[in-house]
Amino acid sequence: MSSIMHPDNDSTINPSGNTSIRDVMAEFKGRRNFLKGSLGMAAVATLGGFATQAQAYSGASPTPGGGGITFTGVGANRPSNPGGFVDAITVPLGYTAKVLIGWGDAIGRPGAMANTHWNAADPMTEAVQLTTFGQHNDGMHFFPFPAAGAAGVSNDRGLLCVNHEYVDPGLSVNSATYGTHPLTGAEVAGQIASHGISVVELRKVGGEMKVHRPSVLARRITGKTPMRISGPAAGAALLKTTADPTGMQVLGTLNNCAHGFTPWGTYLTCEENFNGYFGTPAANLTAEPLTSLERRYGLSSTGFGYRWYEQDARFDIRVNPNEPNRFGWVVEIDPWNPNSQPIKRTALGRFKHESAGHVVGADNKVAIYLGDDERNDYQYKFVCTGVFNPKNRAANRDLLDSGTLYVAKFNADGSGTWLPLVWGQGDLTPANGFADQAEVLIKARQAADRLGATMMDRPEWVAVHPTTREVYLTLTNNNRRGSSPASSNNASGTTTAGGARPPVDAANPRVDNRYGHIIRWTEAGGDVGATTFDWDIFVECGDKSTVLPNPTRYLGNIDGDDFGAPDGLWFDKDGRLWIQTDQQGDGLGDWANIGGNMMLCADPSTRQITRFLTSPKNCEVTGVVSTPDGKTMFVGIQHPGEDWAPAGYTAKSTWPDSGVNGPTTQAVAVKPRSSVVVITKDDGGVIGT
Ligand code: FEO
Ligand code: CA
Ligand code: CA
Repeated sequence: MSSIMHPDNDSTINPSGNTSIRDVMAEFKGRRNFLKGSLGMAAVATLGGFATQAQAYSGASPTPGGGGITFTGVGANRPSNPGGFVDAITVPLGYTAKVLIGWGDAIGRPGAMANTHWNAADPMTEAVQLTTFGQHNDGMHFFPFPAAGAAGVSNDRGLLCVNHEYVDPGLSVNSATYGTHPLTGAEVAGQIASHGISVVELRKVGGEMKVHRPSVLARRITGKTPMRISGPAAGAALLKTTADPTGMQVLGTLNNCAHGFTPWGTYLTCEENFNGYFGTPAANLTAEPLTSLERRYGLSSTGFGYRWYEQDARFDIRVNPNEPNRFGWVVEIDPWNPNSQPIKRTALGRFKHESAGHVVGADNKVAIYLGDDERNDYQYKFVCTGVFNPKNRAANRDLLDSGTLYVAKFNADGSGTWLPLVWGQGDLTPANGFADQAEVLIKARQAADRLGATMMDRPEWVAVHPTTREVYLTLTNNNRRGSSPASSNNASGTTTAGGARPPVDAANPRVDNRYGHIIRWTEAGGDVGATTFDWDIFVECGDKSTVLPNPTRYLGNIDGDDFGAPDGLWFDKDGRLWIQTDQQGDGLGDWANIGGNMMLCADPSTRQITRFLTSPKNCEVTGVVSTPDGKTMFVGIQHPGEDWAPAGYTAKSTWPDSGVNGPTTQAVAVKPRSSVVVITKDDGGVIGT
């Protein structure tokens, strides 16, 4: 992942000057009794009771117990392997991975285009994209249809909601030199339409899960779809623009990275690197420099080089300075109503949202864990004021509008504290730049700076164990950790995004943490609304292989197959922890032994980790979910063949249209296309067994 359009959040700051010290001893090596304070069996029984009701809405069907991980792992996909670097998905013997849908394939909207796929040789247009699957899929969730039987949900029919994180504009407009391409407004509109969310209906036909076309539930939501702003910041002055003087209606959602879902059956999509789409001529910033709010969220003259502002003034931060404030939120979507308007839920705060993992307490209290993926940014938790009503879906409609947003402080002794971002409390006052709760939420990063939250190594996905409610969080990397001169995010909120150089701490114990780690915690007393927690580090990733020389590697402490840059994270119904990676996709350098990106399966009790899947060339693996029975799994492959320019679209990868993982909609491989695959076990069993 080195494309400028797909930053590893390093683009704001020149990362030069890092020290190269390795294997610094952590402040904290002793592991506290992690399960202290976690749930007893009585609470587990209660959880099972609620889940039976909740699954009718959400598809969650947790069952206590380990479930077992019995597949034989696959080898690393190394460029140095005798067979070379494999441009395909590889899964264990006895499993099959088959392409389900990819960029430009019809989603099945009723009408003339229901079965019409894009021809990948053409530039992508807005009109085509509105009836086809968006680009660069990321987080996704499967919402099963209701069904007869004890479980109450179908394993054969459901809605798959899929995020589209960003676009490779060269693939979109057919240019190997996008930076100097004579860009048109229509081309910008096409790119905006490639973002957002796709909703497709899936049905099992002849034993195989397929996109059902047409379906009245098929839907595209894009970077231009009208949506409502709700919650405490709705109507705030900082959200008002010339086009929307109310500050309550916004066009579209962008950079939809990972996701969440609610127990009441709605989809949550998270707006991550929204700053990259905005810009302005450099002279404008000379005349009117960036504000501290703009700097803290990573805005700049060029953004990530999309150049949209040249054709669409909505993305010019000196023409529409409040437009960026309308992005960086969690958006709630009702997939069951294709006419429903998506809602940006401001109570959950504004930052570079990665994912939104929920947990429901025994008392039906709901908490949502929210990571801010930037070097040295923070981990948050939102606790709803109201409680989940499993018997009345409509009663839960606006639960996400009212509650308390907290940010995490990880203490060196293995304890932690949730610090409330509540206006008027502590330093969150008008004297410090927070006029009201709306400003606390719009400037959430700066509010968290003020509270002294723990700077983390890029929080990515959270996953909640289906029975114990332990929360796991991937921290993907941080090349500024431990570099010099040391600095911290300023309490005044004046730090440039990703600009600090924090020393190691207990929760982020490695200098230049290029392989990342996974941390986990459990709330005090098993109460999802608790303000204290216990944490430990589940695993430090690394490379312990000696196949190829890698003198600068970290060994890590993985029991099993090596990996790094953990990103996607998901618990299946039986408590297997699935880990997906987003590292340099060419398997070279630090990744020469680890190979290309992959998905692994971990046993949270033994910490044994086994590689389940290796990916095509120059992609990341992101997005994983299954049918409620665990027998049909969906996995996302994003940006195969990245960094092809200027050599040619397929210079790095011809996946998926090489056909190596099943037939696709394209007769020949013209461009690599991000796609979702279906994984099944040949004997019909649960994935992972
Ligand atoms: Fe879009 Fe932080 O991954
Ligand atoms: Ca991610
Ligand atoms: Ca990532």
